[in-house]
Amino acid sequence: MLKGVILAGGLGTRLHPLTKITSKHLLPVGNEPMIFHSVKQLTTAGVTDILIVTNPQYVGDFVNVLGSGKDFGCEFTYRVQEEAKGIAHALALAEGFATRDKIVVLLGDNIFEAPIHQAVSDFHAQQTGARVMLKQVDDPERYGVATLDGNHIVAIEEKPMHPKSDYAVVGVYFYDASVFDIIRTIEPSARGEYEITAVNNAYIRRAELEYSFVQGKWIDAGTFDSLTEAHQILLNAADWQ
Ligand code: DAU
Repeated sequence: MLKGVILAGGLGTRLHPLTKITSKHLLPVGNEPMIFHSVKQLTTAGVTDILIVTNPQYVGDFVNVLGSGKDFGCEFTYRVQEEAKGIAHALALAEGFATRDKIVVLLGDNIFEAPIHQAVSDFHAQQTGARVMLKQVDDPERYGVATLDGNHIVAIEEKPMHPKSDYAVVGVYFYDASVFDIIRTIEPSARGEYEITAVNNAYIRRAELEYSFVQGKWIDAGTFDSLTEAHQILLNAADWQ
């Protein structure tokens, strides 16, 4: 069984003052709260057991707008990340929920023009290890950046000043049960966060990291410009949602 995890904690400081009174993931995008997109990506791919990780301030608002999951044909579990110590730190809270099942993790501010269900099927077929999704971009220095050698990712660098490729690692990650042991081994980065890139590099060292390409447009809606773009994309791509 494949379970879903949506990470919707963090501070959203790049979107102040909007995010002084709500979570980035509850802002309107394509006529709905942003987090609806992640939920629909998962349910469209047949993933219906979903954990939402939020910060303490807005957890009640998430419950108000999402409820039990009945309206979406899924079941939600909620967990609170007390401090925004990074994506891997937020993911560690999913260990009890995952109960050693494989998981797909979505960053709640990532918006896709097309469904990601093909990558989900590819991971269903993958016995062990992890999978990331890549997209060629014009501004790789904003993201995790993958270096490819033939069919393999040989390294991922987090927001490098001099990117070695233009392949961004987007905010969709597929993991087997060993991810939680890996998270326990990583150290915080220079910016004080437990980085998901450190987790993915650990899978590279085990030769267990596969990848899929993103079809269609992809947006990390963490800034005002990208939020506007995400809005346009979802207004125009409503057919599968
Ligand atoms: O969007 C893709 C990028 O996301 C990747 O290419 C990077 O490798 C990855 O580090 C990440 O970079 P960002 O700087 O965009 O991450 P951000 O801090 O904006 O957090 C992304 C989401 O993760 C956000 O929607 C909320 C969640 N989050 C983040 C942190 C730091 C949490 O739930 N808890 C946290 O502590």
